[in-house]
Amino acid sequence: TGKMQASAVDHAQHASAATPIQTIRVTDLSGPQTGVPDRQFRLIAQKAKIHLPSGKVVEALTYNGQYPGPELRIKQGELIEVVLENKDIPEGVTIHWHGLNVPNAEDGVAGATQDAVLPGEKHRYRFVAQQSGTYWYHSHQQSAEQVKKGLLGAFVIEPATPTGSPAAPKLDLSLVHHKLGGGAGITLNGMDGLLKERVVPGTQVRLRLINADSFPATLQLQGTSFQVAAIDGNEIHEPNLIANQTLLLAAGGRYDVTFSMPKQSVFISQSKASNEHGLLLSPDGTGEAPVLHPDLPVFDPASYGSPQTLPFDLLTRYDRDFRLVFDVQLGFYNGQLDGLWTINGKVFPNTPMMMVKEGELVKMTFINRSYMDHPMHLHGHHMLVLSRNGIPTTGSPWWTDTLNVAPGETYEVAFRADNPGLWMDHCHNLNHAASGMTMHLLYE
Ligand code: C2O
Ligand code: CU
Repeated sequence: TGKMQASAVDHAQHASAATPIQTIRVTDLSGPQTGVPDRQFRLIAQKAKIHLPSGKVVEALTYNGQYPGPELRIKQGELIEVVLENKDIPEGVTIHWHGLNVPNAEDGVAGATQDAVLPGEKHRYRFVAQQSGTYWYHSHQQSAEQVKKGLLGAFVIEPATPTGSPAAPKLDLSLVHHKLGGGAGITLNGMDGLLKERVVPGTQVRLRLINADSFPATLQLQGTSFQVAAIDGNEIHEPNLIANQTLLLAAGGRYDVTFSMPKQSVFISQSKASNEHGLLLSPDGTGEAPVLHPDLPVFDPASYGSPQTLPFDLLTRYDRDFRLVFDVQLGFYNGQLDGLWTINGKVFPNTPMMMVKEGELVKMTFINRSYMDHPMHLHGHHMLVLSRNGIPTTGSPWWTDTLNVAPGETYEVAFRADNPGLWMDHCHNLNHAASGMTMHLLYE
């Protein structure tokens, strides 16, 4: 073992024409193989019939028969071991730790960092959780299909030293937004209606909002002022209190919001159009969802919180500078006439291969010339947002792993190449990723 061909990637059904790129040694890039893990989990990928509260029954793909899969909650610095087993999913499965900068061989990308785990097979993941914050996990084999059908779950890493006042009661809740089967039925933690939760006034609340869907989520938070404490697992520096704003989460993106529970109820709605989906927090666990505000302004991370010294900025001399234009064109893919989602005019596997050397500073410019959002997700690294539409960011350092690039927008982002391997960089509208909008970052 120890060698792999960096040729095929996820969405293998489209990747037959991929040319071998080069061989890199994966054993060098795996997590600690010895040592007693601090936390162990066993996830069994299996088909299951999911009964939603509305009465809908969905033929789902699950981890452990649950939708979403079990929340994995650990502490920063712990060595974790996850054993994945595939019971009965013929196409095979994996687990990708979305937003976690794990060693390359633990990244869970079928065809690139491991083979898909077939029925009856097992795969062991081991890594130390270096980061804290809100993440999620999902299968990275035929992702568009498998994530839509339910192979996903929340992954929370609590900071090594707890935050907040120790005396106050706390509620720390992950909330997974998703559409099971891709239809119109929005779910929150697997429920397709209004969730209600009893919360004592004065409780310090942290809601970990996770958008596991392939489309942007528009969430409204009413009844309290709040802070956006973290974005994509990264704490915001001095987040200010805001109210009456819409939170727009990129597909795959996360926001942590915090507030002290007031005496009245707090409502978080999952849709701009209806107050029938979401979470109602109230002192007695009952009540009705309030009427939605039609036109709340959208929260803007580019100017939120206080600035801090940056490791690099717009004036830095970058070792690499990649310009990536997203577009759409009509063409044949997989024998079918369809809209092709392109990067620099090409679909995968002819999209750019971004070559870097360890230690280099890398800048990327994203330009969206198409008519849809492209939530760009880089594996294994976090990107610092430098500017949007030519205007430098002014708030707290905005680190992201999944950046929503809306139609007409241009972003400049940067990162240090400090995690060797072969990494995917793709649109997290997983249908787009499967029909062309996928590229790679490769360490020489
Ligand atoms: Cu969340 Cu390449 O994936
Ligand atoms: Cu896209």
